[in-house]
Amino acid sequence: MRILVTGGAGFIGANFVHLLVREQPEVDVVVLDKLTYAGDRASLAPVAERVELVVGDVADAALVDSLVARSDAVVHFAAESHNDNSLADPSPFVQTNLVGTFTILEAVRRHGVRLHHVSTDEVYGDLELDDPAKFTPTTPYDPSSPYSASKAGSDLLVRAWVRSFGIEATISNCSNNYGPYQHVEKFIPRQITGLIDGVRPKLYGTGENVRDWIHVEDHNRAVLDILERGRSGRTYLIGADGETSNLEVVRTLLEIMGRDPDDFEHVPDRPGHDLRYAIDASLLREELGWRPRFTSFRDGLADTVEWYRANEAWWRPHKAATEARYAELGR
Ligand code: NAD
Ligand code: TYD
Repeated sequence: MRILVTGGAGFIGANFVHLLVREQPEVDVVVLDKLTYAGDRASLAPVAERVELVVGDVADAALVDSLVARSDAVVHFAAESHNDNSLADPSPFVQTNLVGTFTILEAVRRHGVRLHHVSTDEVYGDLELDDPAKFTPTTPYDPSSPYSASKAGSDLLVRAWVRSFGIEATISNCSNNYGPYQHVEKFIPRQITGLIDGVRPKLYGTGENVRDWIHVEDHNRAVLDILERGRSGRTYLIGADGETSNLEVVRTLLEIMGRDPDDFEHVPDRPGHDLRYAIDASLLREELGWRPRFTSFRDGLADTVEWYRANEAWWRPHKAATEARYAELGR
């Protein structure tokens, strides 16, 4: 069994590769990753001897064709993934997330290879804070940003290829992940690494926005379950009932790191900032029996703080350039 993992040098993809190597030693893993600013060879260093890393673009049709031809399954994580970057320059989002996914689809169609497409709950837009509703697989798509619109488009391409060409594919839409190897541009690692450097956490706007946090390992275990037992053509929502406001996240991090819980600052809000995401994962729980293992968000955050303290050599090279980009945005 050989699995092609696109985007395997990024945050979730690298954690997925670690999980595969640890728990399914009989599987051969090939990673296709362009090593953009968000991809890091160092994230695969602990498993380097078990993994073949091909540096290249998911939109390179000839390269993708040759890799898919020798694979039994493709798990497609590769994407431009940061909303703030998509507001500054949408172009790589259209190219990688749409053209890249189209390229993968054409290759799996030619070679009859099973695909799992990894997507986000942000395709559904956002919810009001007091809305009892959560996102379900039938919630209409209503993306807000160039990032979420490009992911929504990629999901629709996958659905069309299943219906029109009969490819074997599943889709998952997961909520916000946290854990080891997440790029320092994202909310939680940005604040943890800032605090290590003595910088106060930065909250966009009021901080009332809610995200439905899930540990990356719980996300990846769900992806494995779907890959093994999911039904082709189905969309599975992945979430662990982790709804928390950004303000609460910042206060918890300050408390874990031994600081005053009020020692943060407000910075200008993100344009079009989605208010709340919330996932109903009952299909995944009932059909595939998946359960999250990280049931305490505070404990998961404390582990993540420890990981960033212990792995400064991994994140330090990215920190200054990331903060320079934020400084240009005034955030
Ligand atoms: P990331 O930005 O950390 O990693 C993306 C990886 O893709 C990087 O290694 C990058 O080098 C690679 N890549 C980018 N463009 C490429 C291209 N053209 N060709 C080949 N490789 C390319 O992202 P992430 O947070 O690990 O997200 C992975 C996937 O999960 C994405 O599809 C994202 O939409 C989805 N997702 C993320 C979250 C989250 O909270 N981070 C939640 C739900 C879904
Ligand atoms: P982010 O990690 O960028 O993920 P997403 O936009 O996909 O949800 O941001 C998570 C939340 O944190 C989002 O509501 C924006 C907010 N945020 C801050 O308040 N401060 C920050 O420095 C960053 C990067 C994000």
